[in-house]
Amino acid sequence: MSTEQSNADRSPQDIAKEAAGRHAASYVTDGMRVGLGTGSTVHWTIIELGERALDIVCTSTSVQTHELATSLGLKVISPDEIGALDIAIDGADEVDPAFNLTKGGGAAHTREKIVASMSPRFIIVVDESKLVPALGPFGTPLEVLDFAPGVVTTAVEALGASAVTTRDRRSDNGNLIMDAQFGTIADPVALGIALANTPGIVEHGIFPGSMVERVVIAGLDGVRELVNDQR
Ligand code: 5RP
Repeated sequence: MSTEQSNADRSPQDIAKEAAGRHAASYVTDGMRVGLGTGSTVHWTIIELGERALDIVCTSTSVQTHELATSLGLKVISPDEIGALDIAIDGADEVDPAFNLTKGGGAAHTREKIVASMSPRFIIVVDESKLVPALGPFGTPLEVLDFAPGVVTTAVEALGASAVTTRDRRSDNGNLIMDAQFGTIADPVALGIALANTPGIVEHGIFPGSMVERVVIAGLDGVRELVNDQR
């Protein structure tokens, strides 16, 4: 089946995800230690890295990504084994104008934040739909210890959440995944700090813009990049 025929069966968003994901692989060169994110956009970065057969070592942010990467012949070792990274590439659920991110749509944000923190370069791959004027509409994913989820819910509501729901699926770490609705988040960095200080929350899905080097965005007009000059 030709690319043209297969694209006819795909949504413009899916085609954009592939374009952004594959484009970001161009930042990876031989000898690099690479952090691999999770999701349907970075999926294509991993595919591209597998196709290029580069001499790289990777660490992954989920079981799903580990299985994909190893099936393509990429060498994947644990974060502790790899120690530090040259680059990490991942998707996002929301990107605001200050490069703040919402992540965790795929329940992998705890491992994603650890892996991103290991790299001086954190590159985000998205389709246009992920760009928002302010974080919030997606909800804020929370990984929560299954000890006192009701207590955590009350604490998150006290921070301004109008609703907190629990997903059916747990994280790869065996913890609960909740989604908190804060409406439009005026100060995502401050909210992130407050959530991080809430006992029982293992990790929240707000990634401050200071972590992000650039965002690779694909849409109907092709691929463009936003570079974070403020870091
Ligand atoms: C997983 C994530 C993903 O990066 C995020 O959900 C974006 O996924 P996709 O590229 O499939 O839209 O944070 O926890």
